[in-house]
Amino acid sequence: MARQSSLRKISKTVTQVLIALGLLWGGSGMKAAVRAAQSKAGEAAFFKTQILPVFAARCQSCHNQALKLSGLSLESAAGMKTGGLHGPVVMAGNAQQSRLYRRVARMEKPFMPLDGEALPEAEVALLKRWIEQGAVCHRDRTHGNEHHAQQNPAEAELASRIASYELAFPMQSQAPEVVDLSKETDATRKLYGMDDPACEHFGRNCLLARRLVEKGVRFVQLFGGGNAGEDSWDAHGELERNHRNRAAAVDKPMRGLLKDLKARGLLDSTLVVWHTEFGRMPISQSVSGRDHSPYGFSIWLAGGGIKGGQVIGATDEFGYRAAVDPHPINDLHATVLHKLGLDHTQLTYFHNGRMHRLTDVAGEVIPQLA
Ligand code: HEC
Repeated sequence: MARQSSLRKISKTVTQVLIALGLLWGGSGMKAAVRAAQSKAGEAAFFKTQILPVFAARCQSCHNQALKLSGLSLESAAGMKTGGLHGPVVMAGNAQQSRLYRRVARMEKPFMPLDGEALPEAEVALLKRWIEQGAVCHRDRTHGNEHHAQQNPAEAELASRIASYELAFPMQSQAPEVVDLSKETDATRKLYGMDDPACEHFGRNCLLARRLVEKGVRFVQLFGGGNAGEDSWDAHGELERNHRNRAAAVDKPMRGLLKDLKARGLLDSTLVVWHTEFGRMPISQSVSGRDHSPYGFSIWLAGGGIKGGQVIGATDEFGYRAAVDPHPINDLHATVLHKLGLDHTQLTYFHNGRMHRLTDVAGEVIPQLA
């Protein structure tokens, strides 16, 4: 499946990850890792100079963090230990029982590298030696953590934390380049409305979103409008002035983003979802605004294989309640997941006495968008 992303703002998230990362790496995990690394320095050097180059030359085109074919990344120690779709691929100390070795030594099909020539005997022998010696990796920073995880199986959160840091590392190392907008041309800035004070701010976010999508970030979320009052869409008062300003702030940037994604061939693989958490009433309880209406509101979708130009459903003549072909929010979520290649009904699990899933055990894919 190609990259399919709903657009979410990531700049804030990235900053938060960086801060958390700095703190935690300075903590006890680091000390444990340093100890492990010292005691295994020789084997780690062997991994770095002998084994990693084999993975880099022969395997990482498919088994990297981004592609992860068969769920397997051969780029990081944690990736190797987690293994692929069928579990760990290395059994430390036993090459014959290690799927990684069996695949390259042509003992188990499909042989690896999948589309290439068999590895030279010398490289197969190196892999064997590495596994027999304990399959130590140079980035065994996580070694202490994993040992702790094995001793404390109830702490399932640790594994997910380790995975978060593995993800955070490439984010940290690539973020400075991604958020640097200085190399964008004036024409591109203008396309996003960055030359117009009314929409400069949101334009910058939209341009950042495109850069993130280009880099393969899977989910990007953008927020239009700020806190309560004049800067948000929550116009309980002065609807006309408020929404005029809000619309002016997002209109050009959003158009620019869609055009830019399309021009760069990214719109087919990127699902853009423009939505709100609430509609507005056609009436107001008091002043010149409009109050919350959960009964009917519109969203739009673009790209990601959605058939354009369709209008699905309608509110009643007052704009109060969805009246024609209404779809609860679960349908939207089911549809987004479907577009990402996921069947939402397959994500159901039992917890705390009832079934749960991302669509809260309801929802149907909207057929016109399937
Ligand atoms: C051209 C892409 C490609 C290259 C290069 C490649 N692989 Fe794979 N690998 C795959 C695919 C696709 C699968 C899933 C195949 C299947 O099981 O049907 C896979 C599966 C695996 C698995 C099983 C993982 C699991 O649990 O599902 C291992 C182990 C593996 N590869 C190791 C390697 C090693 C080691 C190399 C380098 C020597 C390598 N691969 C090179 C594409 C590749």
